[in-house]
Amino acid sequence: MGQGTPGGLNRQGLPGDRKGDGSNKKEKKFEPAAPPARVGRKQRKQKGPEAAARLPTITPLSKCKLRLLKLERIKDYLLMEEEFVANQERLKPQEEKAEEDRSKVDDLRGSPMSVGNLEELIDENHAIVSSSVGPEYYVGILSFVDKDQLEPGCAILMHNKVLSVVGLLQDEVDPMVSVMKVEKAPLESYADIGGLDAQIQEIKEAVELPLTHPELYEDIGIKPPKGVILYGEPGTGKTLLAKAVANSTSATFLRVVGSELIQKYLGDGPKLVRELFRVADDLSPSIVFIDEIDAVGTKRYDAHSGGEREIQRTMLELLNQLDGFDSRGDVKVILATNRIESLDPALLRPGRIDRKIEFPLPDIKTRRRIFQIHTSRMTLADDVNLEEFVMTKDEFSGADIKAICTEAGLLALRERRMKVRHFTS
Ligand SMILES: Nc1ncnc2c1ncn2[C@@H]1O[C@H](COP(=O)(O)OP(=O)(O)O)[C@@H](O)[C@H]1O
Ligand SMILES: [Mg+2]
Repeated sequence: MGQGTPGGLNRQGLPGDRKGDGSNKKEKKFEPAAPPARVGRKQRKQKGPEAAARLPTITPLSKCKLRLLKLERIKDYLLMEEEFVANQERLKPQEEKAEEDRSKVDDLRGSPMSVGNLEELIDENHAIVSSSVGPEYYVGILSFVDKDQLEPGCAILMHNKVLSVVGLLQDEVDPMVSVMKVEKAPLESYADIGGLDAQIQEIKEAVELPLTHPELYEDIGIKPPKGVILYGEPGTGKTLLAKAVANSTSATFLRVVGSELIQKYLGDGPKLVRELFRVADDLSPSIVFIDEIDAVGTKRYDAHSGGEREIQRTMLELLNQLDGFDSRGDVKVILATNRIESLDPALLRPGRIDRKIEFPLPDIKTRRRIFQIHTSRMTLADDVNLEEFVMTKDEFSGADIKAICTEAGLLALRERRMKVRHFTS
């Protein structure tokens, strides 16, 4: 810096004297000490030619290597091309077929399809199918359908006119049916049922025993009953008993309410029944419980409206399933109704539903028991005399008794009492 400052002064002081020898000499003197950047540049420039001079033997080698790499790449490419051409020739027939199918798919795309059932596979490309209504057809299977997954009984998509199989429906179990499966056992058990001992015994014999010990029936040489019907006044514990069965059994329990079997679209009701029994069969041993069967099982009159006829068809399908044209060994049926007299006799004839279990209104002993069951978890005052209710002349059902207990509890709540007291009017 000490030298730079006088240099600066010189520049200012000697604008006209630059060409003078004195100034040139000074600059030359400074040069060796001048900023190192210049020196660096010069050094590089000097090294460049030096390196070029050193590497003449190397340069052609690296060039060769590059060329070799390039040629190798070309070779690879050509090999690939050769393979491609070979494959092309080999795959051409297949591709043409695929193309043909693709055009068929394009034709199908956007056109409606119908859902059917695969009944039987005839050969690689043909099958017998049935749709939800109508007869069975012998149809072709398009090549793009995965034949490994086709098996008799599965749901398929069919072309709407020629009915050839164009697809496979994976999830073929009706979602309605999966809802019916009782996953969580109901809380009610046999201990919660007052009286009804004969009924419990009968349902155990007719439904549970054949599932757990079929050999007993074989020994005696009879066929176990296919199902039972529970009938009687409302509120006598029919649904309760079915719940207890579901609670205690290890078999799959499927539960439907008759009204659920009535569907919006034609043919859906019978299909649901079919599906229900098929699932029951798949998951056997199983128990199918149809509550309020009168919704579909009423006597066959001359039905006028389409809706009524559809309900009848649903019932006929039920009969068909009960008849078990396809044998259903491990499926038991429990029906329940309040109005057995309105049911179709065909439904109740022996061979279909063999056992009829009547649920009477409770007698005095049973009433006492039911009161005990329902008051067991209530806090009763000392003056409560249940006997008075038990001995009344009025006829009432188990549900009525439950209602009395609930009502008493609610009254106690309303008056902020801790105990249920006895009232006499
Ligand atoms: N024998 C009984 N023992 C105990 N509770 C009963 C009995 N019968 C009916 N109940 C009570 O009545 C209620 C209704 O009975 P439920 O079985 O649904 O009648 P339904 O016969 O009309 O199907 C049950 O939840 C239960 O609390
Ligand atoms: Mg009921």
